[in-house]
Amino acid sequence: MIKIAPSLLSADFSRIVEQMALVERAGADYMHLDIMDGHFVPNLTWGPKIVGDLRKHSALTFDAHLMISQPENYVDDFRKAGADIITVHYEACIHLQRLLVHIRSLGAKAGVSLNPSTPVELLQDVIEDVDLILIMSVNPGFGGQAFIPNALKKLREARALIDAHNPACELEVDGGIGRSNIADVVAAGANVIVMGSSIYGAADPAAELPALRDLAEAPLGAGAR
Ligand code: DX5
Ligand code: ZN
Repeated sequence: MIKIAPSLLSADFSRIVEQMALVERAGADYMHLDIMDGHFVPNLTWGPKIVGDLRKHSALTFDAHLMISQPENYVDDFRKAGADIITVHYEACIHLQRLLVHIRSLGAKAGVSLNPSTPVELLQDVIEDVDLILIMSVNPGFGGQAFIPNALKKLREARALIDAHNPACELEVDGGIGRSNIADVVAAGANVIVMGSSIYGAADPAAELPALRDLAEAPLGAGAR
């Protein structure tokens, strides 16, 4: 089954609870929360307090994508705020394996994300310690960027690694995904699809989300859901 994870980054921040409820009603699986620190990426979003405040207004799985330096200093706070999946960047972690074990010990799912220039093979020695691999198909920091086609190759490599060593691990892809390429990322092995501008930028986001899901599941054939 394909999971759709709308990214709040492209929502209207002045109406954030309403914008979150809109995608929940439209059948979103995860709420993707982009955490940016102005250091690991050249943009700023929000910290644990807003995640905790949003938590009171949604039953969705909170999928926190930490684009921050020294994530080890913040994972406890994001877990306390209600993040269900905590994904850290490979490039931001000196002691990645220790941090992944720690995230799991907090009762969250542990994710690791790769920038476009970071090879999948670097995950070989932590594959059993992860619940989710996030392949970035843009350089992180902003919504609305163009999809980098090499991500399809990386998804196929990650899918092979997962199938061989940790079949329960989820494979998420993030950046530049919409109607034109959602079937391609699914065919390459992704099962969690993050989308910001293609959902929140649509004329009718509540109709666009199920339309995107149908396109995602088409390559899987009947009975995919
Ligand atoms: C980018 C973020 C993405 C972003 C995707 O750094 O990690 O989650 O919201 O936005 P779109 O779907 O517009 O590329
Ligand atoms: Zn993201």
